[in-house]
Amino acid sequence: MGKDDPVRSCYVDRMLSVEENAFLTRTGAGTPMGDFVRRFWLPFLLADELVPDGPPLRVKLLGERLVAFRATDGQVGLVDEFCPHRRAPMFFGRNEEDGLRCVYHGWKFDRAGTCTDMPSEPPDSLFKTKVTIAAYEVREKAGLLWAYLGPPGTAGEVPHHEWMDVPDAQRYLGRWEQQSNFAQAIEGELDSAHLSSLHQPLAAPDVPKASSFGAYLREDGAPRWSIRERDFGLTVTARRKAGEGLGYFRTNHFLLPCCSLIAPDPGRQRMMRTWVPMDDERTGVIGVNYYMDKPLSEADLAALRAGENGFPLPIPGTHRPQANRANDYLIDRDVQRTSTATGIRGIRVQDLAMVEGLGPIVDRTREHLGSSDAALIAMRRLLMRGAHALRDSGAVPPAVRGGDLYHVQGWSDVLTDEEFERQQDQRILV
Ligand code: FES
Ligand SMILES: [Fe+2]
Repeated sequence: MGKDDPVRSCYVDRMLSVEENAFLTRTGAGTPMGDFVRRFWLPFLLADELVPDGPPLRVKLLGERLVAFRATDGQVGLVDEFCPHRRAPMFFGRNEEDGLRCVYHGWKFDRAGTCTDMPSEPPDSLFKTKVTIAAYEVREKAGLLWAYLGPPGTAGEVPHHEWMDVPDAQRYLGRWEQQSNFAQAIEGELDSAHLSSLHQPLAAPDVPKASSFGAYLREDGAPRWSIRERDFGLTVTARRKAGEGLGYFRTNHFLLPCCSLIAPDPGRQRMMRTWVPMDDERTGVIGVNYYMDKPLSEADLAALRAGENGFPLPIPGTHRPQANRANDYLIDRDVQRTSTATGIRGIRVQDLAMVEGLGPIVDRTREHLGSSDAALIAMRRLLMRGAHALRDSGAVPPAVRGGDLYHVQGWSDVLTDEEFERQQDQRILV
């Protein structure tokens, strides 16, 4: 095949080189992608995980080892995990009277990183004024804690998502840790094509199409993509056949730098997920399921807590899924033989088995991407273009403004192509 052969350019040129794969996936301090991701507010804990003067928590963000604590005044600090004196772990520190005290020699630091007490030095020493602990800005919004790790003075607004406007009873917040790079976690979520196989039962359930769009997923495994670049990132719509002259359209969004909004079927829970790099091989996921117009029922909540509907069931006392790589995601080969594609219980665990199973950083030089992979190709390009622009010219995309730019929604519906063309820009608006 020649270089200009359309088949070649479609299926082969989109693979990444070794260097490009590293560029996309490395997020440590000083890497181009790490610098880019640091220009956005990143959710890292549920707000109720920290109480005033309560125990600090270890936090890993973009390869940095940190400790979070809630001070006496209710504000949250996020500081270096290691004391600047002799590097003792601040995790064991005492959270007291608006500061975290290192228990080794008693140095104490406030939320801003200022040393407020240094009992191991003489009272008249000025040493205290010369030592700080690295500290990052934290905001609390809508039940989540958000950190900004970019250069001082460059932060935009914390995103304003549609779910932030609904009462607490209409939303469920959770988090888990995933053993994969963040980019491949996002790819797994934007990859609408796998809905036709990975999550399917072997026999079609007996439900009318109007009440479940699942039949369209099963009947058309080769969606056609429509992708639009937006100020917040990307809108990616997968179109499947839905009878004469009609398409089943699923519109998802990729919100820079690591957030996905997934289209619900009408009446079902909406989903937001953020995929924040803890380091290059682990991702901290924050998930929100919500209704815009009604509270979650007891049955909804029970299912969510049981690891259904987009959340994995955690090992008690941790944020690591019970079904994991070490136990082959609890695959049941009998179930796989008789009733579902995977024999793995729970949609999220099925996703985990695939996304983690690629290895912590998939070798993208060995992929063979097809037309069904258009959304994740566009996502990679957008991230890499952003990191290139910041590195080469200091430019940042409009999305760093955050705030209302993120006030959009996913949707799915059965429409004619003309209706989709007419409606696609309006229907993402909340
Ligand atoms: S190591 Fe923290 S006070 Fe000495
Ligand atoms: Fe999935």
